[in-house]
Amino acid sequence: MSKPSSIFLCSSCGNEFPKWSGQCPACKNWNTLSEIKLQNTSSPTSTTSLKSTTPSSALKTTAKSTLPSQIGELDRVLGPGLTQGGVYLLAGEPGIGKSTLLTQLTLALTSATQNTITYVCSEENAAQVATRINRLQKTSHHPDRISLLETSNVEAILKHLNTHPSTTLIVDSIQSVASDTLSTTAGSISQIRSASNLLIHFAKSTGTPTILVGHVTKSGQLAGPKLLEHMVDVVLQLEGDRHHDLRLLRGVKNRFGPTDETGLFQMTSSGLIEVKNPGSLFLSDQSATAPGSAKTLVMEGTRPLLVEIQALTVPTELAIPRRVAQGIPVPKLQLICAVLTKHLNLKLNSYDVFVNVTVGLRLTDPAADLSLALAIISSYKNLSLPINSLALGELGLLGEIRPIAYLDKRLKEAKNLGYQPLDPKINNLKKLSATLFSSSTKPQKPQASA
Ligand code: TYD
Ligand code: MG
Repeated sequence: MSKPSSIFLCSSCGNEFPKWSGQCPACKNWNTLSEIKLQNTSSPTSTTSLKSTTPSSALKTTAKSTLPSQIGELDRVLGPGLTQGGVYLLAGEPGIGKSTLLTQLTLALTSATQNTITYVCSEENAAQVATRINRLQKTSHHPDRISLLETSNVEAILKHLNTHPSTTLIVDSIQSVASDTLSTTAGSISQIRSASNLLIHFAKSTGTPTILVGHVTKSGQLAGPKLLEHMVDVVLQLEGDRHHDLRLLRGVKNRFGPTDETGLFQMTSSGLIEVKNPGSLFLSDQSATAPGSAKTLVMEGTRPLLVEIQALTVPTELAIPRRVAQGIPVPKLQLICAVLTKHLNLKLNSYDVFVNVTVGLRLTDPAADLSLALAIISSYKNLSLPINSLALGELGLLGEIRPIAYLDKRLKEAKNLGYQPLDPKINNLKKLSATLFSSSTKPQKPQASA
C-alpha cells in the first residue's frame, strides 16, 4: 500500500487522521484539524535501529546517569535530577520566569561539575542571554562550558551538537524553532511536532538530557499539540501571578520521579530564590481579623501551605447573581454557595459572591472547601473568624464536614505556625457556623471590607 502524502492533525488532542473533518473524531472539538504534508526525505526519526539490553544492565546505566540539578526546589520536583536521555518540557506563561530558571540551572550545572551546556536561544539573542547569565551568576562560573546557540533551525542545532557534544541541551523555546523539512512557520503545529521529534530522537540516541521550553496560552493550555506532552518524559509547569513574586513549579507528569510535587520560588532582582519554608508567606498582610477571611492548609505535593481565602458578598440587582472566583474553580464556588443556601439558609440568591486566594495561588485541594464556606459566611454576616484559626475539611452536598488526607502533617504545620484548627469534633457545617458566628442567620448590612 502506498504511503499517504499528508495527514490531518488535531491541535487539541494531537490525534492524526487520514481525512479532514470539521469535528475531531477523537476529542470532538471543532475546526482543530489541519493538514500536514509528509516528506519522503528520511529523517533521523525514521532510522530503524534495534538495541537489545537486559533489565539489569539497563538499570546500571540509569543509576549512573542522573544529574542533580543543584537547585533543591527543582530537584524536589524532578526526583533524582536530570536523567540521561530524558526529555523535559518546561511550560509557563510568557514572562513568568522560565528563561530565568533555566539560566540559573545552566549556571548551577556548569559551576558544580564538568558539565557543558548548549543553550539554544531561538527567542532572544545570545547577548540577552549572556546579560542574564552575568546578572544571575553568584559564585565563580565557567563561561567556557556554556555554548549559546543563536539559531531557530533544528537541523543546525543537531549539526552543531554532533561536533560539539554537551552534557545538557536547553531549547528556549520549542515554539520558535523550525525544521527545514517543512515549509510552515515556526510555532505551527506541524513545526512543533517535527522539531520536537528530531530533538527527542537526538536526546534518546545520545543520552543527552534535553529541556524544551513551551509557552502556554492565557487559558493555561500548552500552545501547540497536546501530543507534545505525551512525547516528552517530564512536564513541568511554572505558575504564579506576575503581580506577585511567588512562583510554583509543578511536576505535571514525571516518568522518572514523583508527580504532583511542587517547588517554591520567589522572583527577586537577583533571580529565583528557593523557598524552603513557606510559613506564612502566602498570607496577605492585614488579614488577621477582617470579616470574609478564612485560613487553611493546603497540600502542594507533600508540603502543607498556609493560605488565606477572602470572600466578599454584596447585595445584587442582577437576576442571576455573580459568582467570581480567582484561584478557585467557579463550579466549586457555585457548589459551596448552593450548600450554604440549602443548609444554612443564607439568601445568597440576592448576593454577588467574589472569592479570591491570596498571592495568586490556584487551589485544587478539597480540604480548602470548609475555609471557602466559612469565608463566605463570615463576609455575609460581617463577623470575623477567631484570630489564628484554621479551617480544615472537605464539604459534602449534605453540609457534612468530611475528614481530609494528610491531617497529621497539616496539624503539625499548624502548630509550628501558631494556628489552631477549628473544633475538629464538629462534623456539620451548620453546627460549626452556629458555634462560630451569632446564631441569627439574618445578614448584617455588608460593608465594603475584606
Ligand atoms: P523570563 O525568565 O524572561 O520569563 P519567561 O522566559 O518565562 O518569558 O523572566 C520574566 C520576568 O522576570 C521579567 O519581567 C523580568 C523578571 N526578572 C526578575 O525579576 N529578576 C531577574 O533576576 C530576572 C532574570 C528576571
Ligand atoms: Mg523566555
